[in-house]
Amino acid sequence: MFARSALPVIAVAATVTLLAGCTSTASQGSSGSDISLVKSGKLTTCTHLPYPPFQSRQGKKIVGFDVDLVDLVASALDVKQEIVDTPFEGIQSGEDLNANQCDVAAAGMTINEVREKNLDFSDPYFEATQALLTKKGASYKALGDLKGKKLAVQQGTTGEQYAQRHAKGAKLVQFEDLALLLTAVKTGQVDAGIDDNGVLYDYVKDNPDTEVTAEFNTGERYGIAVRTGNDALRKRVNKVLGDARADGRYDRIYRKWFGTAPKK
Ligand code: ARG
Repeated sequence: MFARSALPVIAVAATVTLLAGCTSTASQGSSGSDISLVKSGKLTTCTHLPYPPFQSRQGKKIVGFDVDLVDLVASALDVKQEIVDTPFEGIQSGEDLNANQCDVAAAGMTINEVREKNLDFSDPYFEATQALLTKKGASYKALGDLKGKKLAVQQGTTGEQYAQRHAKGAKLVQFEDLALLLTAVKTGQVDAGIDDNGVLYDYVKDNPDTEVTAEFNTGERYGIAVRTGNDALRKRVNKVLGDARADGRYDRIYRKWFGTAPKK
């Protein structure tokens, strides 16, 4: 899961997705609506690895909370999920969806107004907030403590945006993915890092030399994205999410990845 191994994966993903240019239609019997898929027989998901516990590699498999939720959608469509690992920038800008690289994007992605212009989101499926990661005992507990210090941000993310607006006086250092950001904090290459609370708490569990010292209450909610106007698929995703919340599958998946029941 370390930074360097991510590069060849991205190169392979890019090649694979070039082949996925045209859409095919999977007729969805019972619903009566036709859902087009970029690759027939597959629900292709764009994501950006690693972002555990939402999506990360475990051996040869890609696993996580988002992966399990999208698997529910795939199985409702009677197809298998196929995951494409691609930089977050192209996911959040809608570019990958518009280029038919994938049917859905599930990447712990926060719903916001700018993104809503470039893609369509499902109903929210997870709540998050920005948080601060430091080496244990470093005593940076607010963005104001980081004046003249290096603050790691992840490219294209809401954390980067939040830091640009609120970490006045800190030197922002941009990283392409989460693993690079985490390693930079752990090794002291930067003084602190900002990212979503879920991934940072997951990291400190196994890295007791680091700690989460603040949460910023940004009130974010994750959504699964589809191409603008792909209402047939968006509605199907919402239906699956709603059903899964009602019948306990959502709770089971939540417990599997977070060890607790979701807040009601
Ligand atoms: N929630 C943040 C955002 O939407 C970060 C998401 C990063 N996800 C990823 N898989 N790299 O900007």
